[in-house]
Amino acid sequence: MFRLRSVVRGCGAYLPERVMTNSDLSQLVETSDEWIVQRTGIRARHIAAEDETTSLLAEKAARAALVDAGLTADDIDLVVCATSTPDYTFPATATQVQAALGMTHGAAFDLQAVCSGFVFALATADKFLTSGSHRRALVIGAETFSRLLDWNDRTTCVLFGDGAGAVVLEAEEGKGTLEDRGVLTTHLRSDGRHRSKLFVDGGPGSTRTVGHLRMEGREVFRHAVGMITDVVEDAFRTTGVTADDITWFVPHQANKRIIDASAQKLGIAPDKVVITVDRHGNTSAASIPLALAAARADGRIRQGDLVMLEAMGGGFTWASALIRW
Ligand code: UT7
Repeated sequence: MFRLRSVVRGCGAYLPERVMTNSDLSQLVETSDEWIVQRTGIRARHIAAEDETTSLLAEKAARAALVDAGLTADDIDLVVCATSTPDYTFPATATQVQAALGMTHGAAFDLQAVCSGFVFALATADKFLTSGSHRRALVIGAETFSRLLDWNDRTTCVLFGDGAGAVVLEAEEGKGTLEDRGVLTTHLRSDGRHRSKLFVDGGPGSTRTVGHLRMEGREVFRHAVGMITDVVEDAFRTTGVTADDITWFVPHQANKRIIDASAQKLGIAPDKVVITVDRHGNTSAASIPLALAAARADGRIRQGDLVMLEAMGGGFTWASALIRW
């Protein structure tokens, strides 16, 4: 039976030039390369320059995705930007990207689901495209988490980095089978009772300040693997796809131990797992599109591949998406 699918036409990424290594961090706080690598798998992260805003990173990733898709901003009628580090409280970062791309048509808005933001944004854009209301979407994850960090807190400042990634989705008629290209299923969850385990202690409606990221790392870790595997299993159950059918597993990049434990619990072979956390750190909503762009650029992800995305983060929020590339 005919049905519309959101097909990935292209993807792109942008990382700020400045690289901060674990040994650079050990000059700032009481930590070591050994501790950070052993506990997280992170070796380095990129940090935005003073004049690099989230929208600037997003624009560069969006331009790269458009080039990859062979399209221009004129072809796009929806921009969804997932970010927790907007340039301003308002207007939305997505509208800044829209303006920078020279777009005066269509709609642009931000979406906030912290580290799950990209999967939430992808699912949202998918619903717009498959309803027939919009034709082509730019879905962006962009963050400057370095601006939210307490650089005196070694339990958080070693974990995060800055960057942006984007995909272009296009509505296309499929047959309604799992052989169709495009987004095949998405699963979104949240539970606000977990707020205090991972949050920013400021905001315009409370402290009227920007605030700093605060995390009970061990508590987040304790919930992460179960939540991630739950939503991936939802995708398996809905589609009938199994771990063996997956070509690539592209998880949110927070901690290599969480990624490894989730893949193992799901029965996904280690050589199918795309890892970038070693060189990007945790870039929140940007981590999945950055990983997708890396695995596309080096030729791993190819047309027809089955790609499983998952993420978990502040809220808590957690989500999965299955895409046939
Ligand atoms: O993207 C959103 C989701 N976020 C996450 O997924 C993060 C989830 N949590 C984690 O990744 C891990 O919990 C961490 C990497 C944050 C911490 O790893 P852990 O194995 O859970 O360590 P811990 O918090 O239990 O701390 C162990 C020790 C503590 O010392 P004591 O109390 O045992 O003496 C910490 O004070 O390590 C100490 N520690 C550090 N030592 C050196 C904490 N941070 C550091 C550090 N360098 N940077």
